[in-house]
Order: sequence, then C-alpha cells, then structure tokens
Amino acid sequence: MSVKEIFETMSYGPAPESAAEALAWLESRGNAFGHFIDGAFTKPGKASFETSNPATGATLATLTQASQKDVDTAVKAARIAQPKWAALGGAGRARHMYALARALQKHGRMLAVLETLDNGKPIRESRDIDIPLVQRHFYHHAGYAQLMEKEIEGRVPLGVCGQVIPWNFPLLMLAWKVAPALAMGNTVVLKPAEYTSLTALYFAEICAQIRLPEGVVNIVTGDGAVGEMVVNAKVDKVAFTGSTAVGRRIREATAGSGKALTLELGGKSPYIVFEDADLDSAVEGLVDAIWFNQGQVCCAGSRLLVQEGIAEDFYSRLKARMNQLRVGDPLDKCIDVGAIVDPVQVETITKLVDSCTTGDIFRADIPMPASGCYYPPTLITGLSPADTLMQEEIFGPVLAATTFRLPSEAAQIANNTRYGLAATVWTENINRALNLAPQLEAGVVWINGTNMFDAAAGFGGVRESGFGREGGWEGLAAYTKSDRDPQPLKPVTAKTGEGKPADAIDRTAKLYIGGKQARPDGGYSAPVWQADGAMAGMVSLANRKDLRNAVEAAHAAKGWSKSTGHLRAQILYYMAENLSARAFEFAERIDAITGKGGGTAEVKGAIDRLFTYAAWADKYDGRVHGVPIKGVAMAMNEPVGVVGAFCPDETPLLGLISVMAPLMAMGNTCVLVASEAMPLSATDFIQVLETSDVPSGVVNLLTGSHTELAKPMAQHMDVASVWSFSSSDISAQIETASSTNLKRTWVNNGLSRDWNGTEGEGAEFLREATRVKNIWVPYGE
Ligand code: NAI
Repeated sequence: MSVKEIFETMSYGPAPESAAEALAWLESRGNAFGHFIDGAFTKPGKASFETSNPATGATLATLTQASQKDVDTAVKAARIAQPKWAALGGAGRARHMYALARALQKHGRMLAVLETLDNGKPIRESRDIDIPLVQRHFYHHAGYAQLMEKEIEGRVPLGVCGQVIPWNFPLLMLAWKVAPALAMGNTVVLKPAEYTSLTALYFAEICAQIRLPEGVVNIVTGDGAVGEMVVNAKVDKVAFTGSTAVGRRIREATAGSGKALTLELGGKSPYIVFEDADLDSAVEGLVDAIWFNQGQVCCAGSRLLVQEGIAEDFYSRLKARMNQLRVGDPLDKCIDVGAIVDPVQVETITKLVDSCTTGDIFRADIPMPASGCYYPPTLITGLSPADTLMQEEIFGPVLAATTFRLPSEAAQIANNTRYGLAATVWTENINRALNLAPQLEAGVVWINGTNMFDAAAGFGGVRESGFGREGGWEGLAAYTKSDRDPQPLKPVTAKTGEGKPADAIDRTAKLYIGGKQARPDGGYSAPVWQADGAMAGMVSLANRKDLRNAVEAAHAAKGWSKSTGHLRAQILYYMAENLSARAFEFAERIDAITGKGGGTAEVKGAIDRLFTYAAWADKYDGRVHGVPIKGVAMAMNEPVGVVGAFCPDETPLLGLISVMAPLMAMGNTCVLVASEAMPLSATDFIQVLETSDVPSGVVNLLTGSHTELAKPMAQHMDVASVWSFSSSDISAQIETASSTNLKRTWVNNGLSRDWNGTEGEGAEFLREATRVKNIWVPYGE
C-alpha cells in the first residue's frame, strides 16, 4: 500500500473533547440557575424549564422562567447603574471591557465546551470560531469605548438596552449585542434563547468575577414570553436577532414608543458560482456556507446558483465532498456537522424538505448517529427560483440549488427573495465579482470566501432581513443618540381665512410625479390661506393612487443611484443657483403665509443647505476595514432606495430642502409629502426642479393630508424607508405599518428639531440616507 493509499483509506479515530470541567461547573451550581440581576444571581425560581444537550438528549440544567417582576427588577437595576457607567467615561469603560475580553480568553476552552454541549455545534467551531470572535468583539469594542469621546463627537448613550438573542450563536450574539452597548455607555438586560442560555449565565459569572459594576449587565432567562416582556419594558432601545416573524411583531410592539430598534433577521442568502471559479475552493466554501453550524446560520449560503455550463460537474464534486462530511458527536474534534439545536427544529427541517416535490433530493451517503437531533447534509437540485425551498429559510443543513446563464441573470435570481442579508460570489474574474457585488441586495457580500465575520466590519441586512448594523463604526450609531435635547414639537397648523385669492389669477398647484405636473387622482384641492386671511392659492389633495404613482415613478428613476456623486453635486448646485435667482419671490411667499417675516433668512438657509449636500454628494465616503484576513472588507455607503418623507411644517421651504437634499445627494429617489400646513413653498419649488436638470422621478412631490398618506406610504412594498418630521401625530402609524416589508423608519415621535441650526443637517441625515454594504475581498495567489 502506498502512503497516498494509506492516507485515503485511513479512518478517523474518535477524538473527543472532555466535557468533565463544564459538567462539573454545572454540578457545582446545583444544575439550576436563577437570573443575573444587579450583579448577583437570584435563587432558581419555581417556574422553570430544562435545557438539554441536543446530541444526547441529556438534561444539562434547570433554568428559571422570568416573571414580569424579574424583568422589571432587572430593568430597574440597569436604569440605576446606567448614569454611573456612562460617567466612568470611555477610558474607564474600556478598562472593564478589556478585563472582560481577557477573562473570556482565559475561560475560552470552558466556554467552547459549554456552548457545544448546550447547542450541539461541533467543538471545532465553538473553539475556533465562536469563542475567538467573542473575545475579539470585546477587545475591539474596548477600543471604541476608549475613542468614543474624541472620535464619536456629539453622541451620547441611549440608556438601557433590552436585548433578545437566538440560539444559533449563543455567546457570539451576546457579544455582538453587549459589547457595543457597554462601550457606548449603556447598560443592558439581555434574554438568551431558551435552548441555549448556559454560556450567557457563565458570562454573567465572569462579569461578577471581574467586578463589572453591578447592574451594568443583567441576564434574564425564559422563552418568547420573557422576550416580549423585555421588549415592552421601560427600555430605551430594543435589539433583536431571530426570526423575521418575531422581528415583525417586535416592530409593531415598539411602534410609537420612541424606543430605538435594530433587527437582525432571517435570510436566504445566494451563493453564486461562475464557470470561471476555482471549483474545488467553491465546493469547500459551501461546506462553510451551509454545513457550518448545521446550516443554522442567518446568513447561510442556502441558495446555490451555479452557472449552467458547469452545473453537472459542480454538483458531482459537491456530492463527493458531502460524502466525506462527518456527522456526529459535536464534542469530537474530527466532526464537521454536529447536532441540530432541538427536536422541534429537526421536525421543521424534515417537514420542509419532505414537502418538496419538484427537485432532486440528494442526502449525503454517510453514517448517521443512531440517536440525537441530527439531519443529514442535503442538496436539492433542479429547483426553480420561485420554489418554496428556494424562498423559505430552512435553517438546517439543506442546500437548495438552481442554475443561471448570464451574470445579469445571476443578479436577478439572487435578488429574487424577500430577504437581503448576505451573498457570496465565486469567480476568478475580479471585475465580474466587483461589478456584481453592488447589484446584490444584501448587507454583506463575500467574494471567493464565505461566512467571514469580524468585529471591525458591520454585519446586518436589508429588506426583510432587518435593519441596523452590528460591528464596525456603523454599529455604534445604533447604541448612541445625538446629544441634542429635543423639545416637544409645537404643531404648526394651517392659517385659516375666507375671501378672495390674493392674486387675480387662479392658482391651483398640481402634484409633481415622474417629472410632470399631475392633477390629483381624486380631483380634490384645498385652499391655502395667508396670515392676513387672503387666499394664497389652492393645492391638490393627493390620495393613495397618487402616492402609488409617485412611488412607481421614484422606483423607475433608480438609475439615479448609479449616477456619480460629481453629477449629483452639480445638480444640487444648479438647484441652489435657480433658487437663488428667485429668492425674493420665495421669501415673499413665506412671509405672506407665516406672517412672521424671516422669509429671506429661510431662503438663504435653503440655498446653504443645497450647497452643503452638494458638497457631501461626492465626499460621504465608505471605509476600508483592516479585518484579520489577507484582504480587506470595504464598507460602501449605498443609497437606501425609494424613500418616502413627510416634510416638516416649521419651515416649509427649508424643511423640504433639508429632507430632499441629503436623499438626492446620496443617490436615493424620493416621494416627498410637503408641509401640510404650508405647502405652497414646495409647489413653487416644482419650477426649480423642472429647470435644474433633475431627472424625472428622482423627486416626486405630493401635497395633502399627512395622516391619510402615512399608512399607505409605510405599507408600500417598494418604499425602502420612511421619514417623518410632520406636525401630525403619525410616527406610531408609520412604524406599525412599516412592518410589511420591515422597512427602515426615521420619525420624530412628536419631538422638534431646529431646522435653522446644525440639527437640521449633517451626519444623522447622511446616515439615514444610506445603508452600508460590507464587501469582503480576500486576495492572494
Ligand atoms: P425566534 O425568533 O422565535 O427566537 C429568537 C429569540 O426571540 C429567542 O430568544 C426567543 O425566546 C425570543 N422570542 C420569541 N418570541 C418572541 C416575542 N414575541 N417577543 C420577543 N422575543 C421573542 O426563533 P426560533 O423560534 O427559535 O426559531 C424559529 C425560526 O427562526 C428558525 O427555524 C429560523 O428559521 C429562524 N431563526 C433565525 C435566526 C437568525 O439569526 N436569523 C435565529 C434563530 C431563528
């Protein structure tokens, strides 16, 4: 027998990692846990549930189901601790975060074993991926804490954060939530998933050991009902990772509460293989994409898209590799695929796969454990893009595959999903990869690699995969707020009057849709009065149909997103020039309507603002992150898409420009609903739009009732984000209705903003007008 043959035929012997230490720790705690509140563990409660090892079914410990009182006590502890924690300053907090990171390193092996016991993931993964990433996250965020005051100017902590996490990466999801929150001066109440709370409880012990101030981290255990209590508690922010269905409920539950919200939800991420790819590497990548953590990964490459010419070859290489995968005892260091987290999940996966009637199902022909929660690595080929298994998140070791011919078709199929978390592209042609990456609707794109994560690079999705980023500089924004102190908004109401038009010629302003002035569908209009009681003119009252037309026009104008920042800047400057030429007329109109004077200053402010965003149009750059791979992660600022905005009433012209200009500058197209009380400055502005080379559909202007238009705007599936600075009380309505496609929202919740000052422009607007896509580009030969 040659050495080669010996290697090829040699079988693995078992190489189990000992669970003794972890089991001894559980035993030393009586295999029963309470909650960690205000720096100490509560006694195990009567209401309890068991957590077990999915590989064996053995019970590991009994956990306590939190009551409303427990959650309230935890939130109170966090509330009391928060100002003191914030007052430590970034440098003070960085010392604690560093101590946490060090302790997580010291206890790394214990945490890896505990994670594997509780979750079923292979020890190779918990030891080499999950726990090192947890440590890295705390180290990295210790750095952000240190830099906060100097580098993140004008931002302050939100307060108390309620955090609810899933079971697929128990400690890693905790780290993603807790590290940025603490770094920025918040305190937390975290609820781990009911299947996998043990490492969170061990983390609680670490917090006590390193003498993290009491109440900074609080952990309550229990099921979804406890999650709901955390969401509804008196917290300032809710951060959730989990299923899209629950994310939607949380969006609705927090609507109008003023709580900040980030949602990291499901995915059905495409894994695209071109015929010029290094096929064996792409096969190996797939092992990471879909069999990593048994496929229970929100960003799993669960939809394989292979170029037609190589499909058969690729499938046969893939099947050969699948037949080499080792499924079994997660504590065995040679195991590739471990146990599914719970029998319930095995059942869900089985049902979904068994319901598949169209494709060819291939299950790896390998030995499977006789008992425990296991599911064989599975490939389903011959599916078409609309098939259920190409659309639904299976959350198991099941890969659904289809083919494509052209790169454009690859992009089309890849984007044919309600999700948008991640995407993977395999090709040796870097031009093709970098050309495709911006076309993919996803928060993260990996080129010739997959499932790469790092604390320095933001992670998060678009569409129904949620909003907000975790990690990187952009992740910090989600744990801070502006240091301004907003006051309750004094609603501006329309002037009333009676009598004749101020002008002899009848003026009924139309809507502006798709570059044309349009009569309102309903045929209704309403008078607008001047402060002196004379009629200033009439405005059209837009209805749902007009709104739909406007969204359609904005959607069709999406080519704007591909125009250069240089071009967008020129158009914004041109608008400023044209407005300046008519400054007197605009100022006169504002003075007549408000009756207060100040029109000249407002027009000047609007011209200034156009200049500001013309300046930003080609300067709001992304970043290149130095992630620990040979390569880079490029954080690109992309436009959000079609944005609907209800403009402020306080300053009818300046407010409109303050909303429109950042959206345009960043490449979005928009549907603006003008100030309801004083819409004429906006309708006058149509003429400026018409003469400033703004492409049709980039800006669409509606007038009418904010209250009537809020819901259809927020429900519209083609609107990616809704902003509201309206005087009308529509924030809650918008946030509730936005759960249709989980669009982003930015609403005033009845608080004011000084449109004349620095609050009316700047970083906050640019951030809201963009979304970050992290494109990972490893290189080397
Ligand atoms: P889930 O979304 O129900 O659970 C995630 C967390 O939310 C858990 O801590 C749970 O206790 C909590 N929770 C449940 N209902 C809640 C509510 N109404 N309010 C607040 N918190 C609540 O996910 P589940 O049931 O564990 O898994 C179901 C499916 O969800 C999976 O098959 C998978 O498709 C998907 N999933 C996706 C994840 C992702 O990272 N994208 C993670 C976990 C699950």
